[in-house]
Amino acid sequence: MGNKFVIIGAGSTHTPGIIGSLVEKADEIQLTELCLHDIDYERVYHMGEFSKIYMSERRNDIKTSWTTDLKEALSEADYVFIQIRPGRNEQRAIDEHTCYKHGLIGQETCGLGGFAFALRTIPAILEIVKTALEVCPQAWLLNYSNPEAMVSEAVYRTYPQAKMLCICDMPISQQEQVAEYFGYDEKDLTFKYFGLNHFGWFTNVYNKEGKDLLPQLREDVVSGKMTGFNAVQDEGKLDDYWFKTFNNVIKGFKAYPDFLPLCYLQYYYFHDEMLEQFDHEFTRADSVLAGREITVYQECRRVIENKSAKDSYLVAGVHGNYIVNLASSIINDKKERFIVNVMNNGAIGNFNHDAVVEVPCYVGAAGIEPVAVGYIPQFHKSLMEAQKGYEKLAVEACLEGSQEKALQAILLNKTVPSYRKGKEILDEFLELNKDYWNPKFYNK
Ligand code: G6P
Ligand code: MN
Repeated sequence: MGNKFVIIGAGSTHTPGIIGSLVEKADEIQLTELCLHDIDYERVYHMGEFSKIYMSERRNDIKTSWTTDLKEALSEADYVFIQIRPGRNEQRAIDEHTCYKHGLIGQETCGLGGFAFALRTIPAILEIVKTALEVCPQAWLLNYSNPEAMVSEAVYRTYPQAKMLCICDMPISQQEQVAEYFGYDEKDLTFKYFGLNHFGWFTNVYNKEGKDLLPQLREDVVSGKMTGFNAVQDEGKLDDYWFKTFNNVIKGFKAYPDFLPLCYLQYYYFHDEMLEQFDHEFTRADSVLAGREITVYQECRRVIENKSAKDSYLVAGVHGNYIVNLASSIINDKKERFIVNVMNNGAIGNFNHDAVVEVPCYVGAAGIEPVAVGYIPQFHKSLMEAQKGYEKLAVEACLEGSQEKALQAILLNKTVPSYRKGKEILDEFLELNKDYWNPKFYNK
């Protein structure tokens, strides 16, 4: 008995980090077979050959393959990791530039960049889940594909029977930062949290003695003693984008000191200031395209040429570890705590029960058990309600190909000031996404 793991969207530059983690925990997760899938032949060829070499030098008992055929990849799968990006980072850059041109933030998950991306990703994800339900109905589908908030809302409503868990590595990354600040191991702290994906707050941080550390953090931030978290991301290098972003967490906590905000709230708390802080000519997607997209593929080519990955610098990090740990918690019935996007069903007492929320859950062989958060304050509830209204209408617009619903969704997004701005951007997006969006949008 063993487990076949599959990575869909394996052309992502995050794949080596996941492979690194799979190898490290191979025995724990009973890994016997790994298959990489992508619709892009060039990318899956490079990632696939890299992975075969990387794996064979560390665990030559694990069968590794790659393919562009989805059914072949999913055949007899036990755990499927999904991390697709329709239109790749090139289209992400187009989203950002289009929004900047109209004076708005077009980030890949927040603001209208997220809207365009959602309408590209949701149809592709639904097709993958549908195929998985036919080919490997027993498999767990663990999803990192963005924009997770709308992807989860679309999948959970369309295929409630799918064993799919939608997760994000940002809460765990921030948890590690808080733990580091206090000199703790992250595993020894319990974080209370609620929200939506890329739209949440930490309310308490308990140590093993039951002491809440959040009041101390608040005091240190408000008094100015604490000025920033460590911002090491992207292959371990200090990155200007994340440096500014984590500084904005401190700024957001200072501005609204009740709860520690997830970093993505910077786009909503400080929309206008974000427009001043970030370069409109050379956006985040441009920097990913000029950086990680090149260096990771260079490294794959080097490994393939040398026929050895023994000295490769590509290793497991928080992103890979989080998704593999989630699978391990199911496989080994560990009942560990993870922050997951789930149907609310009362977890947040005073929030729409029929809406996906992001809350801590215990994860084991029996699936997930969300933690009851209780009632949340008016401020956070109201912010979440507007955002959830946007997300739900964006999903409906996507599934129905409805321009009316698209315009309604767009106006509900806090980064959009008016109908005129929203309409201008929607009209451009419709033109720029003809290859990806629901064809019904274009039926006159
Ligand atoms: C974090 C988020 C992901 C997001 C990524 C973008 O990890 O949780 O949802 O995709 O950042 O990183 P990038 O380096 O591509 O801007
Ligand atoms: Mn995320």
